Amino acid sequence: MLAFWPDVIHPILGVLEPHEIVEIGSESGKMTARLIEFARTNGARVHAIDPHPRFDVDAWKRNAPDAFDMHRLPSLVALPAIEAFDVVLLDGDHNWFTVLHELQLIEQLCRDACRPLPLTFLHDVAWPYARRDLYYDPSSIPDEFRQPWARQGISPTASELVPAGGFNPKLCHAKHEGGPRNGVLTAVEDYLEATDQKFEFVRIPAVFGLGILMPRTLAQARPDVADKVRAWARPEIAAFLDRLEMARITMLLQLGG
Ligand SMILES: C[S@@+](CC[C@H](N)C(=O)[O-])C[C@H]1O[C@@H](n2cnc3c(N)ncnc32)[C@H](O)[C@@H]1O
Repeated sequence: MLAFWPDVIHPILGVLEPHEIVEIGSESGKMTARLIEFARTNGARVHAIDPHPRFDVDAWKRNAPDAFDMHRLPSLVALPAIEAFDVVLLDGDHNWFTVLHELQLIEQLCRDACRPLPLTFLHDVAWPYARRDLYYDPSSIPDEFRQPWARQGISPTASELVPAGGFNPKLCHAKHEGGPRNGVLTAVEDYLEATDQKFEFVRIPAVFGLGILMPRTLAQARPDVADKVRAWARPEIAAFLDRLEMARITMLLQLGG
């Protein structure tokens, strides 16, 4: 997600001026660090959620006591403890069940608190996880919502997993690409179909894909924010990025990435 910080996410946050920023999935904290720096200089607060953060959380908290909270829990457990969401960056467990329920829970919590819906950025809405589930912990997903899976790599030219090599060969992946209840983009589409809230969804198909879910209420209240988001919505840019991304992935796999 970090690739989107300088040109997409940071400029949009600069206009939006959020107070409460929620990041789901911190890992080594590359994006978290940018968000904390933004929060420190703009009087905001970052709520990072990750059951297994790979950085020195205590040291980071000492450096930014007013700007940073860490929740070492799965998102669906941690989210209810957070009072307000102006922006959410969703980059945790990249599967249909988790992403759908994260979006639904955020909506429910905002409704309960009588607060507006957040602007939400989602990573992995292009290949490989748009239409294929990844499970960090397959046992945490109810059986009926978990695809058959294996710890094998992915090829951009096959639905089946590959026996050796491929992309992310050490992670647990759905054995087949596509079909119902499979992948991050499918979760977003199913959420949008079921909710009574209105959104604009902008998809930037580069570096594994960034989605931006902009509530219509936000777009109406903040045309300056809407302009920044819609700048990425041009179909000719998306088609061009799509082709570049496929070329990048082909090269990445040839290089053993
Ligand atoms: C792709 S990494 C995040 C990368 C990070 N956002 C960045 O830009 O550098 C995904 C992270 O999500 C975490 N994760 C897995 N399941 C999760 C869940 N249910 N809730 C929150 N985080 C989760 C993993 O521990 C992992 O650190």
